[in-house]
Parts: sequence; structure tokens; C-alpha cells
Amino acid sequence: MSQLSSVAMHRSPLFRAAHAILIRVEHTLPRSIYSTLYGASFSLYRTGLAASYRLQQRRLKRSGDLEGVRRGKAVIKAMPYSLVGPSGLEATYEAVHDAIKRGVTGAIVECGIAGGGSSAVMALALRDAGAFRHLWLFDSYEGLPDPTLDDIDPASGGTGAHIRPLPKGSCLGTFEEVEHLMGDVIGVPRDQFTMVKGWFQDSVRPNAETIGEIAVLRLDGDWYESTRTCLDGLYSRLAPGGLLIVDDYHSCFGSHRALNEFLSEQGDTDPAFVNDGCGGVLYVRPGRKHE
Ligand SMILES: C[S@@+](CC[C@H](N)C(=O)[O-])C[C@H]1O[C@@H](n2cnc3c(N)ncnc32)[C@H](O)[C@@H]1O
Repeated sequence: MSQLSSVAMHRSPLFRAAHAILIRVEHTLPRSIYSTLYGASFSLYRTGLAASYRLQQRRLKRSGDLEGVRRGKAVIKAMPYSLVGPSGLEATYEAVHDAIKRGVTGAIVECGIAGGGSSAVMALALRDAGAFRHLWLFDSYEGLPDPTLDDIDPASGGTGAHIRPLPKGSCLGTFEEVEHLMGDVIGVPRDQFTMVKGWFQDSVRPNAETIGEIAVLRLDGDWYESTRTCLDGLYSRLAPGGLLIVDDYHSCFGSHRALNEFLSEQGDTDPAFVNDGCGGVLYVRPGRKHE
């Protein structure tokens, strides 16, 4: 368990500087100009982040931390396909690694795929652990829906602390792109991953029984309804000791609200998150003693 809580809590100075600059720019410029500029600056920022992560990995290699090096290789491979930063990808890799190590049974499920980077890093974690679990990848493959009133924070009037503008259709990864990534780039045999195209509201419940037990459930759909629908449809399938990751807990008001509301209805009004930092929050379904 120590691995899970220690990983991914550190944000590099480069990340903090870029984040501060983007927030300032967003508050200064009109929304439409910001959206255009955002695309260019985001890819520049990602290039810098990837370079800094590669440097960190070289240092790790010299230190002889073989597990860390393996994890770093997976993150570097998945990073170009993900909107999630290296720390979040590390946390996701580590969650799968931990579930396998503890013998938690069930499939690996992600709802909210975009370009497929987080799903890819989970597939690589399975491979590194020498484990087989079926991967389920739910998405509209048409990008985000619009937020609803449940996503608006009454205090700020906005949808959260995310700096990326999130209009309908954004964060798009097509079915073909993700299928190519998982099958051809990562090399997951086609019968070991299932892609379900459609709105979660229509696609999740009808597939829940076929999925069966879940070892790791990763939710990355940004909005209240997207998060709540997946919790309602899939949380009961999570094995005791299984891991729930909610990526947008700290960045999207609706996602935060959906998880708090849901866990409180489950009787957990003061949830203890294992990794409460980069890459959202990680919650262990109660029921099996944690090592
Ligand atoms: C932030 S992106 C996911 C990022 C991704 N996990 C990664 O590693 O880059 C959010 C994704 O959720 C999907 N999504 C959000 N709400 C949805 C819904 N209600 N039904 C289907 N897909 C949804 C969007 O299509 C988009 O691909």
C-alpha cells in the first residue's frame, strides 16, 4: 500500500509554473481567444513536461530502482495519448500493480477514454505484472457532452478548477484511434479489450453484468452525470479491496460532488482517499483488510 500513497504526490516546479501562468492568462483574456491560445500553449507545456519526466527517469535508472524504471517506461509510452500528466499516469499504473499484487479479482474498467493514454498505461501495468485481466473501455468516442446545472459550483458560477476549456465535443479520441493504440501500439490482443461506444447513460448498465467483478474502476468523465452514472452502474461490481480512481475530483465540481454524494449514500461520509493528489483520488472499496 505504501507504494500507492507515495507515488504521484509530487508536482514538478515546471508544472506549478505552467499552471500558474495558464490560470493568469485565462483570467485576463476573453474565453474564445483563450481557447485558441490554450491549444498551442498546452502542447508546448506537454512537451516540456515530457522532457522533464524523461530526465527524472534517467536519474531513477542510475539509482537502480527497477520497478520505478519499468513504471516510467510505461508512462513515457502512454503519455502522448493522454490528457493526464505523468504523475496521474504513475498513480494509475500503480493502482493496477497494487490490485494485482494483492490478488484483487476482476476486470479493469475505464469510463472516459479520450485518446486512450490511461487505458494504455493500465494495459502496460498488467503486462509488467505478468497478469491477464480483461479491459473495458467506455466512451462516446465523440468527446464530452455539455455540462448540466449539477456541474455549476454555486460559489464561483463555474464548473471547477480545470484550466482547459471543456466545450461539447472536446477531449475527443475516436474509436479507431483508441483501437489502434491498444491493439497495434500497446499490443493488447483484440479479444482482451472491449470498447463500448455510447453515452454512459445508455452503455454502462446494460454491460455491467457481462463485465462481472471489477478490480480497478477508473472514472474520467469530468461531469456530474458522467461520474454519477458510472458509480451507480459499476461501483457495486467493484471487488472488496478493489480500487476506484476518480480523476476529476479536484478539478471538476460535478465530479467531486458526484463522488461525495455517492459515497455518503453508501454510508461513508468521511472517505479516506489513499492517493489524494495528482491524478484525482483513489478510494479502496471497504471489505478486505489493506496491507
Ligand atoms: C478528460 S477525457 C478522458 C481522459 C483520458 N482518460 C486520458 O487518459 O487522457 C473525458 C472523456 O470522457 C468522455 N465522456 C464524458 N462524459 C461522457 C458520457 N456521459 N458518455 C460517454 N463518454 C463521456 C469524453 O468523450 C472524453 O473522451
